[in-house]
Amino acid sequence: MSANEAGFNTRAVHAGQAFEPRTGAVVPPLHFSSTYAQNGIGGLRDGYEYGRGGNPTRDALQEQLAALEGGTHAFSFSSGLAAEDSLIRAIARPGDHIVLGNDAYGGTYRLINRVLGEWGIGNTPVDMSNLDAVAAAVAASKTRIVWVETPSNPMMKITDIEALAKVAHDAGALLVVDNTFASPYLQTPLALGADVVVHSTTKYIGGHSDVVGGAIVVKDAELAEKIGFVQFAVGAVSGPMDAFLTTRGLKTLGVRMDRHSENAQAVAEWLLERPEVEAVLYPGLPSHPGHELAAKQMKKFGGMISVQFKGGEAAARKVAESTQVFTLAESLGGIESLMNYPSEMTHASVKGTDLAVPVNLIRLSCGIEDVEDLIADLEQAIGNITD
Ligand SMILES: Cc1ncc(COP(=O)(O)O)c(C=O)c1O
Repeated sequence: MSANEAGFNTRAVHAGQAFEPRTGAVVPPLHFSSTYAQNGIGGLRDGYEYGRGGNPTRDALQEQLAALEGGTHAFSFSSGLAAEDSLIRAIARPGDHIVLGNDAYGGTYRLINRVLGEWGIGNTPVDMSNLDAVAAAVAASKTRIVWVETPSNPMMKITDIEALAKVAHDAGALLVVDNTFASPYLQTPLALGADVVVHSTTKYIGGHSDVVGGAIVVKDAELAEKIGFVQFAVGAVSGPMDAFLTTRGLKTLGVRMDRHSENAQAVAEWLLERPEVEAVLYPGLPSHPGHELAAKQMKKFGGMISVQFKGGEAAARKVAESTQVFTLAESLGGIESLMNYPSEMTHASVKGTDLAVPVNLIRLSCGIEDVEDLIADLEQAIGNITD
C-alpha cells in the first residue's frame, strides 16, 4: 500500500517517518546541524547543503503535512504568520488585491492590511459565507487571492469551499484556505478545489501548546516552486526542534480531534440550555446556520465554540476571568482547555474596524479533559455573573 492510499491515522504515524537505516531507530533522529559536509565542491549528500535550504527533520514534517492534507508539497515555517507572509509574497505583486473574510484572524488582517498594504497589496474584507458578496468584491478589483477561514475565528462561520473555489477560479484568483480550526483530520480543502492550505501549526497540528509554527500545503508544482523559493530566500523556516515537536504532535492528531469534537459538542449543547447565554456559535448544533454545510465538508465539528452572553461585555468578561479548568490565555487547539476574550486578546488588533468582535463574546478551545469537569467549570464561572 502506498503512503497516500493508507488511512488518515496511518499516514499521520508513518508519512516521512521511516526508521533510521543505520541503527534501526524507530523515531527518525532530530538533525540539529546547520550545515552539511560536501563530497568535493558542490558534491551534496542527498541534496543537503545548509539548514535554511533543507533539514531532514523539517523535510520529515513537510512530507507528513503533504500526506495528511492530500497535497504534493508542504512547507514548514517558524509561525503561522510567517507562512502567510511568505505565501502572499510568493503569489501577489504590488497592485494585486486580496479578498478575505470579514472575521479573519486579527493577525492575518493586520499582516495583509498594515504590512503588505504598505507594499501596494490591497484588500477587501467580506462575509465569506455570502458568495454573492464575495463574487462582487472579487469582480471589483484585480483579485489575486481569495482567503477564507472555515470555521472562522471566532464567529465560527462556515463557507462552502467548493463553491468559493469556483468563484475564485472564475475570476482568475487562487483560493487559500486557512485550515487551522478544522485541521486536515476534519477537512481537506485541496480535495474540495482550494489551491492552497495554510496553517498555524501552533494550534491543533502541534496540539500541545509547546511550539509555534506554520505551514503551507499545495498540489501544484509551479506554485510549489514559487513558495519554496520564498521559503529559502526569506528564510522564516521552522527550526529542527520545532519541526520535531510538530511532527510528534501530528502523529496523534486524529485521536485528539475525535476527543476535542466530542467534548465541544457536549459543552455546546449544555451552554445552549443556559438562560444567561444569548447565542452558542458551534457548527455541530443543528441551529447553527452552517450546520448542514459543515456536516458535508467536515468529518466532525471540531473543538472550538464561541458564546455570547445576554449580560453583555460585563458578563463575558466575568466568565472569562472565573474559570479554573479553562485557562485564560491566547491560542487554541492544545490538549488543555483555553478561554479567550477575543475583543481584547486575539482580535484586539481589529478593534474599532469592520472586523471587530462583539464584546459579549468569549471563545472556548475545548481540550481533551473529562467533559464533566469542563461543564462543571463553566457552570461555576457562569454562576459568577451578577445580573
Ligand atoms: C486561524 C489562525 N490563522 C493563523 C494564525 C497565526 O498563526 P501564528 O500565531 O502561529 O503565527 C492564528 C493564530 O492564532 C490563527 O488562529
